Amino acid sequence: MQTPSGKTFVRTLVTSALPYANGDIHLGHLAGAYLPADIFVRYLRLRGEPVLFICGTDEYGVPITLAAEKLGITPKELVDRNYASISSSFAAFGISFDNFSQTSRPVHTETSQEFFLDLHRRDLLVQKTTKQFFSPSQQRFLADRYIEGTCPKCGSTGARGDQCEACGTSLDPTELIEPRNVLDSSPLELRDTTHWFLPLGRWQERLETWLAGHPEWKDNVRQYCRGWFADGLDDRAVTRDLGWGVPVPLADHEGKVFYVWFEAPIGYISATREWAAAQGDAECWRTWWQDPSTRLVHFIGKDNIFFHALMFPAMLMVNSQDWVLPDDVPANEFLNLEGRKLSTSRGFAVWLPEYLETFTPDPLRYTLARNLPETRDMNFTWEGFQARNNNELGNNFGNLINRVLTFIHKYFDGRVPQWSEAALTDLDRQALQDVESDLANWAAALERFSVKDALEAAFHAGQVGNRYFDESAPFRSRKDDLVRCEQSLGVAVQIIRHLAVMLAPVVPFAMEKVWAWLGLETPLWRGGWAEASRPVPAGRQLGRPEILFPRLEDEVIAREVERLRKLIGD
Ligand code: 2FM
Ligand code: ZN
Repeated sequence: MQTPSGKTFVRTLVTSALPYANGDIHLGHLAGAYLPADIFVRYLRLRGEPVLFICGTDEYGVPITLAAEKLGITPKELVDRNYASISSSFAAFGISFDNFSQTSRPVHTETSQEFFLDLHRRDLLVQKTTKQFFSPSQQRFLADRYIEGTCPKCGSTGARGDQCEACGTSLDPTELIEPRNVLDSSPLELRDTTHWFLPLGRWQERLETWLAGHPEWKDNVRQYCRGWFADGLDDRAVTRDLGWGVPVPLADHEGKVFYVWFEAPIGYISATREWAAAQGDAECWRTWWQDPSTRLVHFIGKDNIFFHALMFPAMLMVNSQDWVLPDDVPANEFLNLEGRKLSTSRGFAVWLPEYLETFTPDPLRYTLARNLPETRDMNFTWEGFQARNNNELGNNFGNLINRVLTFIHKYFDGRVPQWSEAALTDLDRQALQDVESDLANWAAALERFSVKDALEAAFHAGQVGNRYFDESAPFRSRKDDLVRCEQSLGVAVQIIRHLAVMLAPVVPFAMEKVWAWLGLETPLWRGGWAEASRPVPAGRQLGRPEILFPRLEDEVIAREVERLRKLIGD
């Protein structure tokens, strides 16, 4: 297939940022890296394009060990527990990964160690010795977040090793007065420690040349990168002194593991290897990662741009194997909630498992997709959610589909009435042309990762359909012009067929039903679009419709608003 920038690819590998396994998924995560990726992947599947959708949980790092210690369980117990919950809420929400792995699995240890050794053997990494706090009582080096002390700026006694919450100053742990261990308040001493770094500065020119070849990337991504280039890229740590992580596979490196941001992106490769093995073709992952006819697309939030647009590509470039580099990194901005920043520490968020206790996935998928922070931060409100569900899903789309199919069941035994292309009136032709052009705009928008524009086109098609139904008025012609009535209903069915395609990636649960009602036989997600490009013929038996998007009443929405109010103490 050809991308809007004119490149031709045979297959597309899509990744979504690996979520940390230290808590549940919330709306902000969904709007950043998961829903847009799922919509894009479903679009490609609908077209019958070879696509693989890869993700998994990011399970190493200090926040995980701290959380586990607080709960009195091992980090592995914690991440396994969170993995189970995250993967089941993604599945329930219809995020259709081909593989959702974990970075604590052996395949990832092996893959990231091989990757490191490749760079190490060829002397591409640099080693530096720095001073770091060591806990004599625990006999281990401590990461920033394990250290607290007195802030040198404001004198607050509870400043953390990386930041003083009281005055907001960013700190280096060595700046703290009377530094001590967060866990038992024991004193600390500074000791020398040696670590490996990626000398990104040496590869900056290569990265700049490569990025200059991608003028089609979103402005936000290119602007961030330009900013980092202007500052000059620094060395980035590859290793850390921690007990929880992928061990550094070198002699004399006991107690050292990879820095999470070195190994987590390699997790995309590990998860693909795991998928390949499960397919019974253990080596086929190489086609996805090493054949230049693969298009690699990383969906992320804006806080991950550095790692996906610069650091990981640099790692792939300098590795001795020929890796595919990302063809695009569609990063999204952030989503606010009821006009405020989401705050996971205060629980000010809408969590996916909680949402799914009360609602079905489609209304939230649709509302978020309509509101994606594609070019700037956006806001989610429960009232907006209700309005999108009731006015757009219900009144625009659901109502049209329901009216047409119910009418056909009531008066024509549920069979597509007699209609033909030869008998199209101007009104019929215009309506069909309008939805055809909406469909073309929809596809072009998705190709450039603009889900919002794609949905605008779909919404317009829904309006065209409703207007057509009202103007062609089969409910009137049934009494005095049966031929005309049947023709109008036949045309309305074709409009619904277009809508089913345009809405399927966004509200897949509802559209799988519509697909079946229309009697389409090709599986929707295996090239269904081809069959849906052909008219539904007269005489076809249609399924009996049911309400696709039930109305959401004020009380249900008020409960959610109230819950958030309590959290912020309003
Ligand atoms: O920001 C995050 O949530 C990280 N866990 C994303 C990692 S993406 C990839 F590199 F693994
Ligand atoms: Zn301070």
